[in-house]
Amino acid sequence: MSRNLSPDGTSGNFSSGENLSYWLDTVPPLETSTLNQNMETDVLVIGGGIAGLTTAYLLAKAGRIVMLVEDGLIGSGETGRTTAHLTCALDDHYQHIEKAFGEEGSKLAAQSHQAAIDRIEEIVRTEHIACNFERLNGYLFLFPGEKKQYLVDELEAVKRSGIMAQWLDEIPGMPAAAGPCIAYPMQAQFHIMRYLHELAHVVLNLGGKIFTKTRASEIDKHGAKCNEFTVSAQHIVVATNSPVNDLVTMHTKQFPYRTYVGAAKMPKGSLPHSLWRDTGTQHSKWITAPYHYVRTQSFSNEYELLIVGGEDHKTGRADEENIPEESRYQALINWMKVYFPQAGEVVYNWSGQVMEPIDYMGFIGRNPGNENIYIITGDSGNGMTNGTLGGMIISDLIQGIDNPWAELYSPKRKPLKEFGTYLSEVMNMAAQYGDYFTDADIKSLDELEPGNGAILGKGMKRLAVYKSENGQVQACSAVCPHLGCVVQWNADEKSFDCPCHGSRFTKEGEVINGPAISPLKKVEINAGHNYQ
Ligand code: FES
Repeated sequence: MSRNLSPDGTSGNFSSGENLSYWLDTVPPLETSTLNQNMETDVLVIGGGIAGLTTAYLLAKAGRIVMLVEDGLIGSGETGRTTAHLTCALDDHYQHIEKAFGEEGSKLAAQSHQAAIDRIEEIVRTEHIACNFERLNGYLFLFPGEKKQYLVDELEAVKRSGIMAQWLDEIPGMPAAAGPCIAYPMQAQFHIMRYLHELAHVVLNLGGKIFTKTRASEIDKHGAKCNEFTVSAQHIVVATNSPVNDLVTMHTKQFPYRTYVGAAKMPKGSLPHSLWRDTGTQHSKWITAPYHYVRTQSFSNEYELLIVGGEDHKTGRADEENIPEESRYQALINWMKVYFPQAGEVVYNWSGQVMEPIDYMGFIGRNPGNENIYIITGDSGNGMTNGTLGGMIISDLIQGIDNPWAELYSPKRKPLKEFGTYLSEVMNMAAQYGDYFTDADIKSLDELEPGNGAILGKGMKRLAVYKSENGQVQACSAVCPHLGCVVQWNADEKSFDCPCHGSRFTKEGEVINGPAISPLKKVEINAGHNYQ
C-alpha cells in the first residue's frame, strides 16, 4: 500500500509521506506556477492547506490583494492526510476545556467550531463546490475500561458549553460495542481535497495569486524570501501546520503526535453515515488520550469506505510502546474488525501529524512579538475546523474587525491551569536530547536493508542513512537543524522525524515539515568505516 507519491520522482514534494491518503489518491495534484520574480502584495499567506487557503479566500473575497505560497502542492502537507471530520465535539473534551478556560471559554470554543462548520457549508453552497459535504450525527462512546461517569461528566460540560447533545443507551451503527454514548446532531464531513482544490480555483478567480513549489524563508515584518525572490507584504500569515517563522516560543507550547488511518471497503448502505469516536484511554502515557475516530465515505457504485483513525503516539517515539510506526495499522485494523465486522478489504493506510497544544486550544492570531505576522497552528485533532477558524479570525484581524474568539485563541496566552502537564511535556522534550547517548539503530551499513533508513553512529556524529532499492546509500547528519535533537527513522512513511518539535525530513534529508526550515546536512559516507 506504500506508494511513491511524487509526480516528479522525488519524495516529499507531493505529500508529507510515502503513503497515499484516499483524498490525495482521488484528486489529481494541483500545481500552479512557481514564483519567478520579486513581488509586492497586501497579504502574503504561507501554506496551501485548509488554514492558508481559507485565509486567502476570505481576504480575497473582501477585496484584499492576496498572494499564497506553498512549498509543495495544494494540500500536500497535513491537510491531505486528515480524515476530514467536521465536529464541534472537540477531541480534548469539554470537561477539560472548561477546567482550563472556564464555562465562558468553553462556550466560545463550542461556538467557534460550530461557526467553522457553518462557514464551510456556506462556502460549499456559495461557490458551488462538489465535495460530498453532508451533515450527520456524531457519537462519543467509552474506551473499554473507562468509567461511565466520565461520559456523564462530559455530557454535562457539553451542555454547559451550549452544544445540543443527548444521552443514548446504545451506539447507532455499532451493535458490537456496548453503549451508552453522547449523540451530537449537525456535525458534518466532506472530501477535503475536492473542497481545497475548488477553494484554490476560487481564490485565483478572485484575483489572488498562488505559487506552488515556492518555499518561504527569512520571514519578517517586511515579508519573506520565497525561493530566491523577495516578497514584500503588509501582512504575513504563517499557516504551515507548525509555524516556520518561530524558533522557540511557540514550540514550547505544543507537541507533535502521529496518528494513523486505515480505510476498508464495505458494501454500500451497511452503515448510516455518521462520525463515531471513543473517549480514548485516560491512562495513556501521552498527554493526549489516543482515541479511535471513524467515518464513512462514498467509494464506488458497490462500496463505501469505512475510514478508521487512531493509535497515536508522540512523533518519533513509537518505540516507547514497542509498536513501531508500520505496525500501528494492524492494531487499527484489529480494532476495526471487532467493532465494524462489515469492513472488508483494507485499501488505504496513511498517517499524519497533529500538533497538540498544551492547553487544548489552537493558536490563532498575531505571532508573539509581531504586529503584522500571524500564525495558525495547534490544530489538535480538529484540524479542519481549526484551520477554517484560523482563516476566519485572521481575516478579521487583518481587516480590523472585532472577532469574538480572537482572545481565546491568542498565541500570547499563558496556559496557567495546565501548568503541571506543561512542565511534564517540557521535561519530556528535554529528555529527547538523551538520544545522543542511546544505542543507534544499526552498527554498520551492512545491517541496512534496501529501501530502509536508520540512525548510525555515536554522539554528535550520528548519521541518518538511507539505502535505496538498488543499494545506493545516502547519509546526512542526524542532528535536526531546528534545535539539535536527533531525528528518528519512520519506516512507515519513509521519513526522518524529529521527536522534539515535529520537524520531518525525506529519506534524502529534505525538509517536509517545520519548524526546521533547512535540510539535514549531507555527509560523505565510507562504506568500509566502522561507525560504532
Ligand atoms: Fe526542534 Fe528538531 S524540530 S529540534
